[in-house]
Amino acid sequence: MPLRPFTRLAKAGVLGINGRNLDFIAAYNPRKYYPLVDDKVITKALAIEAGVTVPELFGVIRYGGEAHLIEEIAKKHRSLVVKPARGSGGGGIMVFNGVAKAGLRRMNGQITPWADVKYHLNNMLSGMFSMGDGSDRVLIEERLVPHSAFSKLAFGGVPDVRVIVFRGIPVMAMLRLPTAESDGKANLHQGGIGAGIDLVSGITTRGVQHNDSVELHPDFETPVRDFQVPGWPEILELSARLGHHVGLGYVGVDIVICENKGPTLLELNARPGIAIQTANLRGLKPLLMPVHNLPTVPDDVHQRIEICKANWLGEPLDRFVAPGALP
Ligand SMILES: Nc1ncnc2c1ncn2[C@@H]1O[C@H](COP(=O)(O)OP(=O)(O)O)[C@@H](O)[C@H]1O
Ligand SMILES: [Mg+2]
Repeated sequence: MPLRPFTRLAKAGVLGINGRNLDFIAAYNPRKYYPLVDDKVITKALAIEAGVTVPELFGVIRYGGEAHLIEEIAKKHRSLVVKPARGSGGGGIMVFNGVAKAGLRRMNGQITPWADVKYHLNNMLSGMFSMGDGSDRVLIEERLVPHSAFSKLAFGGVPDVRVIVFRGIPVMAMLRLPTAESDGKANLHQGGIGAGIDLVSGITTRGVQHNDSVELHPDFETPVRDFQVPGWPEILELSARLGHHVGLGYVGVDIVICENKGPTLLELNARPGIAIQTANLRGLKPLLMPVHNLPTVPDDVHQRIEICKANWLGEPLDRFVAPGALP
């Protein structure tokens, strides 16, 4: 399929918002599949169907009259996360690690009184933090505990790995690290750190916070580069498998590496951001174009991972094209 003429920025290989929207999202993501990833309750069911581990769902709140259920659920599970089903960018998410008489304990130790928790639930239900118009549902789910390898890299919350998967082939990834500023969330615009990842080895290459380079995590002073992400082969496989399963050609897969559960799917994103390029100091376009030019992609996930690695290393992908598939 033809692509729009290259702009100056695109010549440098950097994918802009318009290029992302027109050439990749509009071209590769059929609208009918959006609801599967735009609603986190539905995504969870889809992931379970694909055999992928997800955070356990403790409950769904659908309207204000159900807000009181949070007390019961919190007393039973003690550690939990509330999030809008159609939220994005970390908006509205609150992470709690304990229950007190007066309310719920945040990751920074502060207690949020019950009345404030319920007020916040009502705000989420009103759609204040959600994509699209109208009201939303609220998920109450298990708080994930990150792998111990992150103990000196993730402040007060869960780091995640964002993988951009194109036609079922991972093309770029970054590790997102929560900071004191980002309050238990790893999203970059909440103040999290993004670290580029070498796709072949799973080792971080460099870090950015608020678009500036960072060498050390501000809360621990530990280097953010040269960190081996645990479970890297499993992360590549999970993202390649799910990216293919969901029917979206261009998708962001967010994965948490848990101490006990292993790689766990947090969410899928049909419009993944482009800041991942800054974290990697590399443009997406030169990685997307060779995959775009493949006549077909293999059904076998391991073959797609071979393509992913060759593509990352800048090797030609002809050897992956079946002779019969050439024009
Ligand atoms: N179940 C969870 N346990 C711990 N932290 C979580 C959980 N869910 C979300 N978070 C934190 O919040 C961030 C955003 O969550 P996510 O589900 O991706 O929502 P959004 O669509 O708003 O980005 C994650 O990167 C993570 O740091
Ligand atoms: Mg997210």
